[in-house]
Amino acid sequence: MAMSTALPLLLLLSASSSMSTVQGVEANDAAALLAFKAAAVGDGGHRLLSWNASITGGFCSWEGVTCQGKPRRVVALSLSSHGLNGVLSPAIGNMSSLKVLNLGSNMLSGAIPASLGRLQHLETLNLSSNSLSGDIPTNLSSCTSLTTIELQSNQLYGRLPPELGNKLTRLEVLKLWKNNLTGTIPTSLANLSSLSFLDLAYNHISGEPPHSIYNLSSLEVLQLEGNMLHGEIPNDIGSRFPRLLVISLACNNFTGSIPASLTNLTALQLIEFTKNRLSGHVPRTLGRLPNILGNLANLGLYNTRMSGHIPSSIGNLTRLNSLLASNARFNGPIPASLGKLKDLMALDMSNNRLNGSIPKEIFRLPLLSRFLDLSYNSLTGSLPSAVGSLENLNQLILSGNQLSGEIPDSIGGCTVLERLLLNDNSFEGTIPQSLENLKGLNALNLSMNKLSGNILMPLVVFATCNSYRWHTTA
Ligand SMILES: *[C@@H]1O[C@H](CO)[C@@H](O)[C@H](O)[C@H]1NC(C)=O
Ligand SMILES: *[C@@H]1O[C@H](CO)[C@@H](O)[C@H](O)[C@H]1NC(C)=O
Ligand SMILES: *[C@@H]1O[C@H](CO)[C@@H](O)[C@H](O)[C@H]1NC(C)=O
Ligand SMILES: *[C@@H]1O[C@H](CO)[C@@H](O)[C@H](O)[C@H]1NC(C)=O
Ligand SMILES: *[C@@H]1O[C@H](CO)[C@@H](O)[C@H](O)[C@H]1NC(C)=O
Ligand SMILES: *[C@@H]1O[C@H](CO)[C@@H](O)[C@H](O)[C@H]1NC(C)=O
Ligand SMILES: *[C@@H]1O[C@H](CO)[C@@H](O)[C@H](O)[C@H]1NC(C)=O
Ligand SMILES: *[C@@H]1O[C@H](CO)[C@@H](O)[C@H](O)[C@H]1NC(C)=O
Ligand SMILES: *[C@@H]1O[C@H](CO)[C@@H](O)[C@H](O)[C@H]1NC(C)=O
Ligand SMILES: *[C@@H]1O[C@H](CO)[C@@H](O)[C@H](O)[C@H]1NC(C)=O
Ligand SMILES: *[C@@H]1O[C@H](CO)[C@@H](O)[C@H](O)[C@H]1NC(C)=O
Ligand SMILES: *[C@@H]1O[C@H](CO)[C@@H](O)[C@H](O)[C@H]1NC(C)=O
Repeated sequence: MAMSTALPLLLLLSASSSMSTVQGVEANDAAALLAFKAAAVGDGGHRLLSWNASITGGFCSWEGVTCQGKPRRVVALSLSSHGLNGVLSPAIGNMSSLKVLNLGSNMLSGAIPASLGRLQHLETLNLSSNSLSGDIPTNLSSCTSLTTIELQSNQLYGRLPPELGNKLTRLEVLKLWKNNLTGTIPTSLANLSSLSFLDLAYNHISGEPPHSIYNLSSLEVLQLEGNMLHGEIPNDIGSRFPRLLVISLACNNFTGSIPASLTNLTALQLIEFTKNRLSGHVPRTLGRLPNILGNLANLGLYNTRMSGHIPSSIGNLTRLNSLLASNARFNGPIPASLGKLKDLMALDMSNNRLNGSIPKEIFRLPLLSRFLDLSYNSLTGSLPSAVGSLENLNQLILSGNQLSGEIPDSIGGCTVLERLLLNDNSFEGTIPQSLENLKGLNALNLSMNKLSGNILMPLVVFATCNSYRWHTTA
């Protein structure tokens, strides 16, 4: 009898104690959010005015906050592009159920708090495009649920902590480009067997990439451009990264030659090797294999020491949008097969040792629009009147060759031309009247020819190794 009255009392007690635990846990998350807000809003930016006590539903209804479960825990905090210009509070580390922290495209400064290491459930950390500085905290290696780290476009410095490679075995995306990271690429990254996206571009990372990173067989995107890396690209790279879509090693100090095995990659869309110290030949097999035909969109081979003929098989890369092969040592003729590149928008083969005449097929490329630059070679023959078909072309640069004959009147058909540089050739006759049709022309240089009447205007500035990306990747 005594028991039957005691039981409800016990139940009541335990219910009320779990109630206070619920409130306690929720109160902790609420306090952490308020501490986050106090630090993050800074001055003059977004004030997070909706984060107030009067809102129904409590903190789980605050803008950018997502809760789950009972007690209600904060699982996502997503406030990208909110003009937050303060700092990150260490209290974020108190929201122990957080899975997504997305604060990209704000103006947050200061360091990334080491307390983030307490977020065992964190899957996505996105602090990209802020002004964060300091080291990447080693403590992030405790966030063993992480699949995505995006810290690109900040001012982080120091080295990439090797511990990340040892512990974050679920990591799929690691984007750290455009920071000030130094040191070498840690060998431990080879442990990240799920990694599909590795982007360390535009930092000050040096040394030779550890051979082990070529064991990351899930990689789809490998971007290391704009660092101070050296060494040779392994010959068997094509068999090591079977899923590769994008490889950019541009603006480093890589030596050796471009491995022919790249032609074995089934899905490749972008190869960017410009501004290195590569030598040797473009693999003749490039463009031979059907699998590469449908995909490769951009091919950059400029500022290398590559030599030899440009293989005519390049005409098989029918999806190419841009072919940039300047400042190397290519010789021989320009293959007429380039005329098959129906998607080509930009062609630059300047500063090589190419000779023979310009294949007229090039002037029939329907999408050629950004530039056609064949300057500083040893090209001969005339400028075909077919040039007038390039009605979408912005820049035509043929300076520094031995082109002769008259400049065809049809050039007036290139109505959107902004730069026309034909200086240092052997053109003769009169300057065509039709040039007056080119209303957008802002750079024209016809000097050092045998023309009657010379016009001098400013020259073109060429792209350098800055972090501007003219191609887009996911
Ligand atoms: C975060 O947790 C720490 C340690 O448990 C505690 O001292 C601190 O007061 C908490 N901060 C906030 C804002 O809740
Ligand atoms: C609280 O936030 C709600 C939702 O944005 C807003 O309508 C309300 O005006 C806010 N209250 C105060 C006191 O700022
Ligand atoms: C990370 O933030 C950037 C900038 O706001 C955004 O473009 C990107 O899509 C975000 N990535 C993820 C995985 O949410
Ligand atoms: C770093 O992470 C560990 C493991 O989660 C945690 O115990 C420690 O408190 C964190 N350090 C700081 C400074 O928060
Ligand atoms: C980051 O690197 C840039 C360019 O090298 C430099 O101007 C800037 O001062 C560096 N910032 C920090 C915080 O080291
Ligand atoms: C990760 O890589 C490091 C260095 O290469 C190695 O010592 C360690 O054993 C690896 N850890 C795992 C779990 O494979
Ligand atoms: C890379 O893979 C090869 C063979 O698959 C293996 O022998 C080698 O130990 C691996 N290297 C590293 C550093 O993991
Ligand atoms: C390449 O190496 C040369 C000579 O060692 C050095 O002067 C140059 O700064 C390096 N460039 C890059 C991008 O690492
Ligand atoms: C392409 O892959 C096949 C099969 O793995 C291999 O036999 C061949 O040598 C590779 N080609 C190149 C150019 O590496
Ligand atoms: C690729 O180009 C070469 C030379 O132009 C040609 O002989 C070959 O048949 C082409 N291959 C394919 C698959 O189109
Ligand atoms: C191009 O140059 C090579 C080697 O210098 C020479 O053998 C060849 O005859 C030249 N071709 C033309 C069309 O001038
Ligand atoms: C035009 O070409 C001539 C001959 O190469 C060169 O000397 C001059 O600097 C060029 N003009 C301008 C404005 O760049």
